[in-house]
Amino acid sequence: MELICTKKELKEKLDACREKGLTIGLVPTMGALHEGHASLVRRSVAENDVTVVSVFVNPTQFNDKNDLKNYPRTLEADCALLEREGASFVFAPSVEEMYPEEDTRVFSFAPLDTVMEGACRPGHFNGVAQIVSKLFYAVEPHKAYFGEKDFQQLAIIRRMVQQLGIGVEIVGCPIVREADGLALSSRNTLLSPEERMRALTISRALFESKEFACGNSLSATRAFVENYIKNTPGLELEYYLIVDGDTLQEVQEWSDTGYAVGCIALFCGNVRLIDNIKY
Ligand code: PAJ
Repeated sequence: MELICTKKELKEKLDACREKGLTIGLVPTMGALHEGHASLVRRSVAENDVTVVSVFVNPTQFNDKNDLKNYPRTLEADCALLEREGASFVFAPSVEEMYPEEDTRVFSFAPLDTVMEGACRPGHFNGVAQIVSKLFYAVEPHKAYFGEKDFQQLAIIRRMVQQLGIGVEIVGCPIVREADGLALSSRNTLLSPEERMRALTISRALFESKEFACGNSLSATRAFVENYIKNTPGLELEYYLIVDGDTLQEVQEWSDTGYAVGCIALFCGNVRLIDNIKY
């Protein structure tokens, strides 16, 4: 495995791979890697000759300066994990390398990006589209791997490659959870032991709501989750919406969609967490 920090060196290495006819998989990450990321890397290693994992805390997608400052950075441990998982290249550029000048591109994926995370974190998906498109141009992967943990991000990336006409296959991968149900997230490391216990309520509420949903209306199911969270001290619900998994628009009745997904965002202390469940 090689650690590469510039686009130029990356291109040279990958061009050599392409000349040999090797296929390239890309796993974009912001580092602080865990088993969720590892599952994406394993899938890419299984499906491609060469796997590139980018590790870059992308400033343009943070609308909160403190969140950016506090985001965990653990490149050495990340490289050890990626070596174990069989990645070929780790691409860890500097901010100047990815943004030699300000990226003034403005994307719109309406109505996918006007709801949920798009509504709560203005500019977030524009920043995601800026960096992921730059990574696609730099790597030119055959396939790129994204987790369903960030359900809306995955839908937006699929739309972006359509809009830009980028010839990459987007592969969505299932959410990896701790044994107790909490969805793995780099931000989990920021939770105090007490907050970590409270955070368990999120996956519990979602799993129990799935059982509740059998025989109950969509609005009752939504209220079930809302009340579950509101009744847990220390958790501050931002939204819980049941949406169509393709359009990401809210649905009112189960019969409105064949693909209902419940998406949640909340604060556990100062740490913002998201999760989702398919009904
Ligand atoms: P990051 O939060 O590091 O996540 C990188 C990838 O890992 C994303 O596709 C995310 O959905 C996936 N992932 C995270 N936790 C997961 C889990 N528990 N199970 C399955 N997959 C999981 O998402 C980003 O970085 C950034 O927005 C990025 C796309 C890299 C652009 O900067």
